[in-house]
Amino acid sequence: MNPEANQPQPVIRLRQVHRQFKVGFETVNALDGVDLDIRRGEFFGITGPSGSGKSTMLYLVGGMDRPTAGRIEVIGQDISQMDENQLAAFRRTMVGFVYQSFHLIPTMTALQNVEFPMIFSQVPRKERRERAAELLEKIGLGNRMQHKPTEMSGGQRQRVAIARALTNHPEVLLADEPTGNLDSRSGAEVVELLHELIKTQGVTVLIVSHDPAVIASTTRHIQLQDGQIQHSES
Ligand SMILES: Nc1ncnc2c1ncn2[C@@H]1O[C@H](COP(=O)(O)OP(=O)(O)OP(=O)(O)O)[C@@H](O)[C@H]1O
Ligand SMILES: [Mg+2]
Repeated sequence: MNPEANQPQPVIRLRQVHRQFKVGFETVNALDGVDLDIRRGEFFGITGPSGSGKSTMLYLVGGMDRPTAGRIEVIGQDISQMDENQLAAFRRTMVGFVYQSFHLIPTMTALQNVEFPMIFSQVPRKERRERAAELLEKIGLGNRMQHKPTEMSGGQRQRVAIARALTNHPEVLLADEPTGNLDSRSGAEVVELLHELIKTQGVTVLIVSHDPAVIASTTRHIQLQDGQIQHSES
């Protein structure tokens, strides 16, 4: 009997993924033959030293970059084979990104920042506003909707960025060092929020972190070294 027969299809599947960069005469193997399956609802950690390929891996899974070789499947779709239009639609509908430095628009309020991506997906104005307000309520910032980023704490800014990443109901949330600019308490709150969202929104989270406390809170993690998986743990 095939032991995988009863296992649900992984949400993300990487097979022999390579990403090579050529700069001048140098070749960098940012990812060098990565195989990985991530299941729905996992809180999956990626750790490893600077330059080991962590961000490269997130960009590839999110369709912001393409592998030089190998297959990347997200919900059964091979994104490495998609043309530019298909990839843009994939990015718009299937993934949300969260960055270390928040990337909020400084002149906009929290509400406007969360509404912003929905303009591009042509959600009508009223619905946009309602969904943004509902998301901000859900993450505990109902009383900060009219605040601009400079009028909020780092933890609050990161929660706004998480709300913004969720507007289009993504399947996968990709977070690159989301607690890197936060004190340990705000960082722990952000991690707790991500856990909550897995339960309530059914998303799958990939989180890059150097922080042992963050990695300890994941359901499973890998360690990258020179673009290869060194260590993985259930
Ligand atoms: N656009 C690019 N052009 C050339 N080389 C690149 C490019 N992006 C990444 N690299 C190289 O690929 C390797 C992996 O980079 P990556 O950004 O994935 O590392 P990282 O693990 O996220 O590091 P950090 O912890 O510092 O963020 C590095 O050696 C980097 O210099
Ligand atoms: Mg990085």
